[in-house]
Amino acid sequence: MIHMSEAARPILKTESDPAGDAGFLWDFWYPAIRSREIRPRQLSKAMLLEVPLVLGRTLDGKAFAMRDSCPHRGIPLSYGCFDGKTVECSYHGWRFDALSAQCVEIPSLTSQNKLKVERVFAGHYPCEERDGYVWVFMSEQGRASAEAVPASPALPVFGERYKITHLACELPSHVDQGIIGLMDPAHGPFVHQSWFWRSRRSIHEKQKQFKPIPSGFRMSAHSPSSNSAPYRLLKKVTGAPVTTTIDFLLPNMRLEEIHSGKLWFSSRATVTPVRRDLCRIDFVAAWNLFFLPVSLFRFFGEAFLRQDQQTMIQQAEGLKHNPHLMLIDDADRPAKWYFALKANLLDSRRTGAAMRHPMEGPVTLHWRS
Ligand code: FES
Ligand SMILES: [Fe+2]
Repeated sequence: MIHMSEAARPILKTESDPAGDAGFLWDFWYPAIRSREIRPRQLSKAMLLEVPLVLGRTLDGKAFAMRDSCPHRGIPLSYGCFDGKTVECSYHGWRFDALSAQCVEIPSLTSQNKLKVERVFAGHYPCEERDGYVWVFMSEQGRASAEAVPASPALPVFGERYKITHLACELPSHVDQGIIGLMDPAHGPFVHQSWFWRSRRSIHEKQKQFKPIPSGFRMSAHSPSSNSAPYRLLKKVTGAPVTTTIDFLLPNMRLEEIHSGKLWFSSRATVTPVRRDLCRIDFVAAWNLFFLPVSLFRFFGEAFLRQDQQTMIQQAEGLKHNPHLMLIDDADRPAKWYFALKANLLDSRRTGAAMRHPMEGPVTLHWRS
């Protein structure tokens, strides 16, 4: 994980109203923590959408997530202890079943007391492990009925044997800025110039086909930019054309697939809101490109993320002063679609009507990058 240096953190404080709407999308899965970070008999902490969570793994291997707050007096449950089955609060010793968050013991009760222990619950969130992450389904009430919860998202892979690696990076911004940064084609030649990828001089006009898909949009299969060395290498190795498809899906996900002959590369980036002024990119990539070792990929991947992070830290400095911003055609059109998708989803949840898609059909966008 690329943490921000302590020097960068103080500029992240926002003036925003702590009680106001933070612009989060509830009722979706978000990656909370890496799978390897939770162990039996140990409690871990994470924050998603400004909700503090305590996570762990039961003795039979199941991941769980509770609100990190005891329903008795609110002390974080993460100060308590976990025997692999129940979480015991550090303050008065109430114990909660880790998987259901149902209270199983209140030590102060006597046979004279009428309180029904089993009616007491801690906040509790559906939790699934996939692709090396612990995903948590964040419903606003902290309690989603099991039927309302879809399966957590899976990274597409195209065979049994592949390499997989994970990268993460904190950004000092609202999730919306993180997401539009992720889908922004025009910053490449400026932020990501480097000898191994591309130079600023290689900027040229591009046109890309987009089409609507449920809850998002797709940059249709195309041959990726001829100005980057890795794609030229891939084509040389397979002798087959290289095609890339990129999807954006609400609430926060960019999926990219690259195929050339039998070789493939698949990646997913999610931008997860931690607080209204902090988000985190989780990037997972899998591939069967025999010539690409994990260490080499991580070296370049981390360099890329650090470039984006540096830019977002600088941007946060400017955003403190509430500037007016612009979204221009065509390079910022995907960002406009994102905002429209989000608004339409919230509308449809409010009215109960079907969600309108902001795109009427396929569109070709033109930009230089
Ligand atoms: S605060 Fe947790 S048991 Fe009292
Ligand atoms: Fe970038």
